[in-house]
Amino acid sequence: MILNTKTKDDSHKFDCLKFEKEFSNLLYLKDLDQRIAEQPSLIKSFEDGLEVILSDSYAEGEFAHDPRFAEPNSDGRWVGRQPKKWSANPVRTNSPNGQLFLHRILYRINRLKLFWYDDLDNYANEDSIYLFKVRNQIESAWQAWESEQLDYESLASVNVEKGLRDRVARDLEPDDSPEDLFFRDEMTETGYRRLLAIASLDGLVEASQLSRVLGGAANEIQSMVTRIFLEEYGGGQLRRKHSTFFSSMLNEFGMNSKPEAYFDLVPWEVLANINHSFFLCDRNRHFLRYMGGLLYTEVSVPASFINFRQAGERLGLSGNAIDYWDLHIKEDKKHGQWMLDDVALPLAERYRENAWEILWGYDQQRFFSARAGRAVAKSVKEAESDCTMESFINQLSVK
Ligand SMILES: [Fe+2]
Ligand SMILES: [Fe+2]
Repeated sequence: MILNTKTKDDSHKFDCLKFEKEFSNLLYLKDLDQRIAEQPSLIKSFEDGLEVILSDSYAEGEFAHDPRFAEPNSDGRWVGRQPKKWSANPVRTNSPNGQLFLHRILYRINRLKLFWYDDLDNYANEDSIYLFKVRNQIESAWQAWESEQLDYESLASVNVEKGLRDRVARDLEPDDSPEDLFFRDEMTETGYRRLLAIASLDGLVEASQLSRVLGGAANEIQSMVTRIFLEEYGGGQLRRKHSTFFSSMLNEFGMNSKPEAYFDLVPWEVLANINHSFFLCDRNRHFLRYMGGLLYTEVSVPASFINFRQAGERLGLSGNAIDYWDLHIKEDKKHGQWMLDDVALPLAERYRENAWEILWGYDQQRFFSARAGRAVAKSVKEAESDCTMESFINQLSVK
């Protein structure tokens, strides 16, 4: 795997590549935990690198304690051995290679929670205590940092029902962001392909995380979430599964429709979105946050996908190249309403003390999605300017 190194900050370029390779070697090592127990030096180089990159990406100042041994509490926040100070200064994220490296590592651990119909040996270390520790180490630092990005504590005093209704009304018909306008009015076919490549990482396995919150006690809320899941999965018919519509878009352009084919193009902000979903769906303590995030996603998708559909129409693309957007513009209007009326509001009623966490999940997902959208637009523009530069050079060489 090759990291995207198109950044002005090349100071970590070599290290990130080296450390990701070291992680790959560990990930597929037979009997990983046993081998580490016999030979602790096996992980030393990777551990040293991880600590440096974690510190560089998320922490400011000296570490009070070794973050490798820190633990989040039941809220997912640091207790006890936390660094002296986590930076909320976005300037610290100007270490994109570090963030990218961390999210790629995290994604590669998280993806083991899903089955990919590949070699069974790829799952040999899915229960590894060491991988679990690395995952917690990255998630703890990253989630603490993310929690600093929004003032979620003030949500505890908000009227949750009103807060939810106001948010949904706003996000069903939002003002156009600069990215929305760019996608709708300016994106070229080259850019459209880049958009598909990046979005395919989630689009080809969409709603996978939702599958992980369906089990457990039966009630009206659980039934509605299951109903939404079944619609995402085409009611058990592959041709109607939403991801099949994404494959059709890729096929229309002769692009690779194998999941993760374009992993190397995915910005850290998009990986963070996916990793955040993995983080929440696997922790029942964060069930309310996960559902708040899902509410935002279902509510906001129609307005954002309308721009992609209009871009496709402006570019004269075929139905197969835009049907995925069309499907979601219709379906997610309904899913958003179901999520509000039959999931979020009943959950708020049932968990009055913690109902504000639904708002937290909602607001955080909104923040993550906007950040990812900006990163995708940036990448699309880069693809377009690379293409322009390439044709310019070709023209010069013809002359
Ligand atoms: Fe969907
Ligand atoms: Fe949906």
